[in-house]
Amino acid sequence: MLKQMRFNGEVVVVTGAGTGIGRATAEAVAELGATVVLVARTQSKLDEVKASIEKADGKAETCAADVSKEADVGKLRDFVQSKYGRAKAVINNAGNNFISPITDLATEKWRELIAVDLDSVYFMCRDFIPLLLKSDKPSILNVASTFAHIGNPHMPVYCAAKGGVVSLTRQLAVDYGPKGLRVNSICPGPTMSPRVKGYFDAGKADPKGTLQKVMLGRFAECDEIGNVAAFLVSDAASFVNGASILVDGGQTIN
Ligand SMILES: NC(=O)c1ccc[n+]([C@@H]2O[C@H](COP(=O)([O-])OP(=O)(O)OC[C@H]3O[C@@H](n4cnc5c(N)ncnc54)[C@H](O)[C@@H]3O)[C@@H](O)[C@H]2O)c1
Repeated sequence: MLKQMRFNGEVVVVTGAGTGIGRATAEAVAELGATVVLVARTQSKLDEVKASIEKADGKAETCAADVSKEADVGKLRDFVQSKYGRAKAVINNAGNNFISPITDLATEKWRELIAVDLDSVYFMCRDFIPLLLKSDKPSILNVASTFAHIGNPHMPVYCAAKGGVVSLTRQLAVDYGPKGLRVNSICPGPTMSPRVKGYFDAGKADPKGTLQKVMLGRFAECDEIGNVAAFLVSDAASFVNGASILVDGGQTIN
């Protein structure tokens, strides 16, 4: 393994770390030697991930927070600041989806999803940049989606929010690249997280239709996204800045 992929106990904050892509990402950065601060709303899920990381000789801390809420993000920042004084990387992964054509989309649902998928990234970046700038070669990784780049039926608010994440990422890379802070987004294609499995189990989406568009003909496992995410916040990716990295099995090429 590349030496630059290793962390030396530095702090990496991962939001939405209780399940799915966030959990896989947290486990990957912990395996590479980071101290991971696991963030999600449900403490019991965080405790489970922490135990699994520690069982594999990794280091983890938990902080329950709803990252769509400004006050919660402020408390999370204060927790990291008082415990560690700085952060090497922040991975803004928490997110959700809501499937509805725009003509049936209630304003509160629009606002709810924008709050989770986009406001959270704004709060996290704003509050954590001062802590990141205290570290050597810091970075932010925002988890967007292929649907930031292509349209998908009945996902107006998700596509808008993830497009906003990619655009905000690029803008922050312009402002903070000169200060040594890298800011990137990762755009997963269809990934079999518990949430996505739930859509298929409930008949809300058709896996066959989705897979026809993915050239590898299958869903990603969560760790196939988490591994790339861990690489992108490591020093091995030290010249990747302002990029939107597609990890989609070839979904967007055809
Ligand atoms: N699974 C996919 O196919 C796919 C594809 C592209 C992008 N993504 C993105 O990847 C990210 C993770 O998705 P996933 O499929 O693993 O979902 P998931 O629902 O399995 O995991 C999301 C995690 O975020 C947490 N979370 C949600 N809202 C939160 C909030 N307000 N505050 C704190 N934590 C919150 C959830 O509790 C959960 O632990 C999301 O941003 C999603 O949009 C997923």
